Amino acid sequence: MYSKWQLAGKYINFYLRASNGKGHGTHSPFIFHFITKILNDTVPYPEYKIPEDLRKKLISDQTILTIDDLGAGSAISKSYKRTVSSIVKNSVKSKKIGQLLFRIVKENKPTTILELGTSLGVTTSYLALANPEATVITMEGSKEVAAVAQKNFTAMQLRNIIMKEGNFDAILSAAVQGLPGVDLAFIDGNHRQEPTERYFQQLLSASHNDSVFIFDDIHWSREMEQAWENIKAHPSVTCTIDLFFIGIVFFRQEFLEKGHFSIRY
Ligand SMILES: C[S@@+](CC[C@H](N)C(=O)[O-])C[C@H]1O[C@@H](n2cnc3c(N)ncnc32)[C@H](O)[C@@H]1O
Repeated sequence: MYSKWQLAGKYINFYLRASNGKGHGTHSPFIFHFITKILNDTVPYPEYKIPEDLRKKLISDQTILTIDDLGAGSAISKSYKRTVSSIVKNSVKSKKIGQLLFRIVKENKPTTILELGTSLGVTTSYLALANPEATVITMEGSKEVAAVAQKNFTAMQLRNIIMKEGNFDAILSAAVQGLPGVDLAFIDGNHRQEPTERYFQQLLSASHNDSVFIFDDIHWSREMEQAWENIKAHPSVTCTIDLFFIGIVFFRQEFLEKGHFSIRY
């Protein structure tokens, strides 16, 4: 993982080379549409209130959970304690990214959505609310965290979420094989190169022309940057959008040439 200062340097570098996020000078109609209609859509969708009310509630929750650390392979290497409040402040995607994911789902209307890394379920609820017709399958390996997320889904009355508890290494492959396809995947757990690329390969087996994969923290470490470069170079990937904090992958064959875009957000 890069230090705070290294990450700041990376961000400045990104900021200087990325396009301005207004769509000016963009030659790709697809990217222009993405910037103007999804990235910069400022409509205050009423659904936003549900995950943000949950976030507020969790921020003041001092309940202590035992966290199973699954970051280092298929076995639980160690466990430690954290409050719900600290998890929501440090591990959950921001309101800005949650709302962007909501708009990506709203626009693309995926019917099978897979999230790797539920945590407390805040981002899962954005995904589920954006298309009530979709099934959101979300995976979490830390038992007590998964239990809180499940309680949150019930309290929000979100019925289109299926929670799968377990290590991605053990459950992802079978879960993917049982699906008609993966329309949208959000990969937000186990941020290391080898597992990230392996999950990409597993998800790829169920992808199709209109699938969208979103990877979190692509500049978080040298390993994640390498994984992101390898994913971009994969022959089935036709277009990527790097927003620094997340990277979005498209497979559409109708793109005439491969394009890799960095956009400030
Ligand atoms: C960054 S958090 C997810 C945040 C969530 N997507 C959100 O924005 O609300 C990552 C989660 O992935 C889980 N995780 C990490 N590695 C895992 C693995 N190998 N198998 C299952 N869960 C894992 C962690 O327990 C943690 O809760």
